[in-house]
Amino acid sequence: MLWPALRTRVPDPPLNFSVTYPATKTTLLLERDAEIDLGQALLASTRAGNGGLLSFEGPPGIGKTRLLEDLKERAVAERMTVLTATGEDLTQTDDPMKKAMRQIAGVFAELEKARLVSKLRAARDRKRALTGKCGGRKSHAEARPQTVALAKRLYRRNPVTGRRRSLRQIAAALAAADHVNERGAPFNPASIRSMVNG
Ligand SMILES: Nc1ncnc2c1ncn2[C@@H]1O[C@H](COP(=O)(O)OP(=O)(O)O)[C@@H](O)[C@H]1O
Ligand SMILES: [Mg+2]
Repeated sequence: MLWPALRTRVPDPPLNFSVTYPATKTTLLLERDAEIDLGQALLASTRAGNGGLLSFEGPPGIGKTRLLEDLKERAVAERMTVLTATGEDLTQTDDPMKKAMRQIAGVFAELEKARLVSKLRAARDRKRALTGKCGGRKSHAEARPQTVALAKRLYRRNPVTGRRRSLRQIAAALAAADHVNERGAPFNPASIRSMVNG
């Protein structure tokens, strides 16, 4: 949807306020439909008397200012009053109030991090409970199911003698059937043990 950037109508300035009109647009606003829709909805809600806060966050160059400009234009076009202000650098002062604000911001950042960490941990636990694992190396069963199936078969007791093959014998039998590790060598006994016990 490109119409906002292509619009030619110049809005009437709101009465009683001096409004800085956005600088001449040099770029079209592209691929921001969802954000524009959200902005429009918030403007409508503001017009209906419900204030709010919209914050633009992201790395430099991602288009925060451009999007804000677009929203400002829309507000002006709808004859809303647009005021702008610049924040001071909270980190560059010894003013006790600003120092307190800085500390409070630090406390919340820490809290948010702790909450995020615990949410991620809970999500990992849920996934582990559901699928048996989360992250880490792939198990043999995941990486080479056919090899594992064959290893388990080779591990069965001989019905007549009641004896099993040793882990080493199984590794040799697997290698003979072209089941080898990623380096092309026979699996080591520890790998075989995790295959047959897994
Ligand atoms: N959606 C967009 N479509 C086209 N150009 C964009 C868009 N968003 C940003 N730009 C352009 O990219 C550049 C950086 O955007 P800007 O809003 O200044 O980023 P930020 O404020 O996040 O650092 C500007 O030249 C801007 O006009
Ligand atoms: Mg900016």
